[in-house]
Amino acid sequence: MSHDFLSFFTAWMAAPGRVGAIAPSGTALAELITRDITPETGPILELGPGTGAFTYQLLKRGVRQQDLTLVEYGSDFMRLLQLRFPGARVLWMDASRLAPERLYRDAPVGAVISGLPLLNMSPRKVISIVSGAFGYLRPGGAFYQFTYGMRCPVPRPILDRLGLRATLVDRAILNVPPAAVYRLTRRPQSRFITHDAATAASSNVSRDASKQKTERDCIPAV
Ligand SMILES: C[S@@+](CC[C@H](N)C(=O)[O-])C[C@H]1O[C@@H](n2cnc3c(N)ncnc32)[C@H](O)[C@@H]1O
Repeated sequence: MSHDFLSFFTAWMAAPGRVGAIAPSGTALAELITRDITPETGPILELGPGTGAFTYQLLKRGVRQQDLTLVEYGSDFMRLLQLRFPGARVLWMDASRLAPERLYRDAPVGAVISGLPLLNMSPRKVISIVSGAFGYLRPGGAFYQFTYGMRCPVPRPILDRLGLRATLVDRAILNVPPAAVYRLTRRPQSRFITHDAATAASSNVSRDASKQKTERDCIPAV
């Protein structure tokens, strides 16, 4: 929708680092990042939905609006999402506060879909977001993240610290710019990330963890 391009561009002009893209994601990327989702996935937490490019695709896949929690920091995007998805829970908040806000009782979430610009964030913030999200993910649940970068945007030291592994789902070369989607899951035998652990994790991280990124962070899925 041309209106969405304008909303995005205006938001990007005001806060380029936070918005992280000059235009909403295209259909190829929206289809890819939601590929594993079915109505049986249950509650879904979407981070940084913007104008709702991924949200629309989730609904197309049969997800009920009542199963959606949308966490968005941009106030204009948040109001637009409330209008577009009146049955969803739309929260105007910083995704790095997932753990302290206690969005769910226990861990019922089947999938997290993230459009957040993680590459523009500090390691501390990435840890808060990822650990906070995993605190709500049920066993077997997955966190899906897209990136315009060549590697997984969650660096290896952070994956190690949180007991996670990342696999490349695929690349959406038709997206402008081309993007990749990664699936983050718990490693076998890794300790379950609780709310308390998620809160603690955000307070003790080396600032230079992001310098230690390696391609080994992301194991090709095939
Ligand atoms: C690259 S855009 C992706 C938007 C949409 N998912 C898409 O693919 O078209 C990043 C989105 O994340 C939001 N965002 C950035 N930092 C955030 C944060 N800390 N908490 C919540 N939302 C955030 C921005 O406002 C923007 O809507």
